[in-house]
Amino acid sequence: MIKRNIGFSNLTAGYLFPEVARRRREYVALHPNAKIISLGIGNTTEPLSKHIAAAMSNYALSLATPEGYSGYGDEQGNSVLRAKIASVFYPGLAEEDEIFISDGAKCDIARIQTLFGSKVNVALQDPAYPVYVDGSVVIGAAGKNTGNGYKGITYLPCTPENDFFPELSKVKKNSLIYFCSPNNPTGATATKNQLQTLVDFAISNGCIIIYDAAYSAFIRDESLPKTIFEVQGAKKCAIEVNSFSKPAGFTGVRLGWSVVPKELKFADGASVNRDWNRVMTTLFNGASNIAQAGGIAALDEQGLLDMKAQVDFYLENGRLIKETLEGENFKKAGVVSYFTGNGPYVWAKFPGKKSWEIFDLILDECNVVTTPGSGFGPSGESFVRFSSFGHRSDVQEACKRLSELQL
Ligand code: MLT
Repeated sequence: MIKRNIGFSNLTAGYLFPEVARRRREYVALHPNAKIISLGIGNTTEPLSKHIAAAMSNYALSLATPEGYSGYGDEQGNSVLRAKIASVFYPGLAEEDEIFISDGAKCDIARIQTLFGSKVNVALQDPAYPVYVDGSVVIGAAGKNTGNGYKGITYLPCTPENDFFPELSKVKKNSLIYFCSPNNPTGATATKNQLQTLVDFAISNGCIIIYDAAYSAFIRDESLPKTIFEVQGAKKCAIEVNSFSKPAGFTGVRLGWSVVPKELKFADGASVNRDWNRVMTTLFNGASNIAQAGGIAALDEQGLLDMKAQVDFYLENGRLIKETLEGENFKKAGVVSYFTGNGPYVWAKFPGKKSWEIFDLILDECNVVTTPGSGFGPSGESFVRFSSFGHRSDVQEACKRLSELQL
């Protein structure tokens, strides 16, 4: 018999979002008439821009013609799309051949883990998007599960006490550092000075930063960096991942990209960009060409306007949720909520309560699904995350129910 991958035996039972979905199903089985509203997983709800959808539809139809048909695409993704990404998001900061098109940031993060293998030191913000931890566990880089985290992972608490920016001195030399800004789940968005501190630390300590910028389109404060490559030295120490999922509503369509600078090197001087090309061409066969046609349309004048409008819509939902969490009932219970207006999540602390307890209470009393903060890491305990992805009427109804919640 073949032995089970040691990573899996170490893994906490369920991935966070399916676990939330499982509990929701359990609840609905017991309360079939409950009108559940999800402010849980960050799943987009608004229809695609007509302009972007038309580009995909036209492309799909052209595939049925001899002139329009195409099979496998360019190695690193459609070159028109890569050039657009370079000029829209990285003017003067990244070249087309540093950009790799993919099926999304989560999948890229999982593939990046194969690039560094099981022997790498891992450090990450705590709380963090669960894929950084669970992916590290699967690949064998996380060490033993202590019941409150993994031995081989350096957790960097990001809490209200440190203004959600971590103390870096605990990070071991030559570590992979996962950093997400605007942050999932806290919403904290790093300033240019903070990113400079991170980059300087990485360069001095032989670290590589995996910078998750999946929510950069939500940044409305012009002074905040939208890419780590705005920071001096970042091309020597960072990989960036990003995605069309949230700004274009492509959570189902699937399209993202990574930026791997040519300056980035392994200890032996080998090019990370070259190895990443090898990983992508070996483990991946390119994003759907239809999705890539949508990506090209998303980055023209109309597409950019449409994406901005979608993001503004979700940000307004976030403001409504934040306002509700500032109501008397929450104040009396000492609840403190955080919403930066630069990301889609509202992060709220319920003192003296466990995250899953709050999750159950809100599900039971309001029929609203949230995401328990402890699922994002030990420092997320006592918090829950409210997602601003939802139809306006659902968000308003959820806010009404929440404002009547007795805590
Ligand atoms: C989240 O809810 O944290 C994310 O949207 C889920 C995902 O992107 O995988």
